[in-house]
Amino acid sequence: MHRRILVPSALAASLVLAIPASAADFAAGAPGIGDPYYPASGNGGYDVAHYDLRLKYRPATDLLEGTATIVATTKQNLSRFNLDFGLAVGEVRVNGRKAAFAKRGDRELEITPATPLEKGRSVSVVVRYAGKPSELKIGGWTAWHRTPDGGVAAQEPDSAVWWFPSNDHPLDKATYDVSVSVPDGTQAISNGVLQSQSSRLGWTRFNWRSNKPQASYLTTLAVGKFDITTDKTAKGLPVLNAYSRDLGDHAGAARASVERTTEVAEWLEEVFGPYPFNALGGYVPNVTSGYALETQTRPFYSPRQFANGANVSVVVHELAHQWYGDSVSVKGWKDIWVNEGFARYSQWLWSEKEGEGTAQELADYIYALHPADDPFWTVKPGDPGPDKQFDIAVYDRGALALQALRNEVGDEDFFAILKGWPTVHAHGNANVGDFVTYAEKVSGKPLAELFDTWLYEPSKPAGAAAAPAGA
Ligand code: ARG
Ligand code: ZN
Repeated sequence: MHRRILVPSALAASLVLAIPASAADFAAGAPGIGDPYYPASGNGGYDVAHYDLRLKYRPATDLLEGTATIVATTKQNLSRFNLDFGLAVGEVRVNGRKAAFAKRGDRELEITPATPLEKGRSVSVVVRYAGKPSELKIGGWTAWHRTPDGGVAAQEPDSAVWWFPSNDHPLDKATYDVSVSVPDGTQAISNGVLQSQSSRLGWTRFNWRSNKPQASYLTTLAVGKFDITTDKTAKGLPVLNAYSRDLGDHAGAARASVERTTEVAEWLEEVFGPYPFNALGGYVPNVTSGYALETQTRPFYSPRQFANGANVSVVVHELAHQWYGDSVSVKGWKDIWVNEGFARYSQWLWSEKEGEGTAQELADYIYALHPADDPFWTVKPGDPGPDKQFDIAVYDRGALALQALRNEVGDEDFFAILKGWPTVHAHGNANVGDFVTYAEKVSGKPLAELFDTWLYEPSKPAGAAAAPAGA
């Protein structure tokens, strides 16, 4: 809190004065990071480098107790700052000293350190907390899935606020250590590499590490009774898959799908370049909801994805996100097309490879499926709005946009773009405009009109998903 200023040499050759900075030099960090779709998501004033989460979870009661240690760097002089969090907090320390804190609304934790924080300093924040995530309603609901034998956090764009305090926005990615203690006989699954597990006094602790930048919504926790399979890829990366022991007659199809993770990732490497992380896998908990999510290194799959037998296509989708979404993350949630359009298109490429229909055939099918008066065409994949963020049009029309690009620039440039993008923006953030600029650069063609048509026109574009003339 002291500024050092040099006084003119005429006054004193090397006199250094320390004067207290006035309170006016310090301001509160913004309670949101500035995303128009979700104004409360993330926070201003600091950047997190690492989260260390030390947790204990009791499946019988859904009680989660935790200590989160957050290592961050301040980006402005801070009188106070916010974390996004919903559970009840018992104590906060900043740089080791007790800090004042208050809950604001249902997802903001406002922290006032004992002394203000100067810009550009490393700061440690310790938050001790406890609560039942299934009982925590934020915006009227809980993203926490309680299961008969445990609980699961996996949801987009929000899940972290139900189980750990964070700067909850993809713009602030960080590394993670997630250490979870659960009753013996129960497992705790998270992202990255299982560093170790050990048991004592009736509790087993699982220590997981993610050593590459990871967005908060891609950080997952699943507690339950799982069967676990492990393997190594040809390059030696650890593969770990986990299946609830309670999948009923979906168990076989779940394994027949998720056990193909290594094969699918190797194929995707041919399309997108080197796999961006140091671990792979997937997990299938006994949840009732139906979706899947690209949680980093270890996607979440609802058992319902496997209702009709093996579904390798969903594995392709979630693994494609490891490049498009996880390594290269959105700058804002309106950029969701740079995740979902590409994950869907990769399913079309898999179909093409498997002889189940080419991407062009699938594009023609989707184009014909939706007549001009179908509300499908009113959704703008390039800016769908928060209510339509995961509308089917973001996926399917989003993939049509890529088929139109492929036809415009030709296969050679198209696949160079698909492979180049995850390299140029590896472990970073990018938006729709960045992709258009990049595709124009690689192809040497003006593409603004093509993307305007396919991503921003609120009506059915004329001319099918544009099979090339003569094709
Ligand atoms: N990114 C996810 C996917 O792979 C979407 C999850 C959307 N969430 C939901 N509750 N539907 O498609
Ligand atoms: Zn997706």
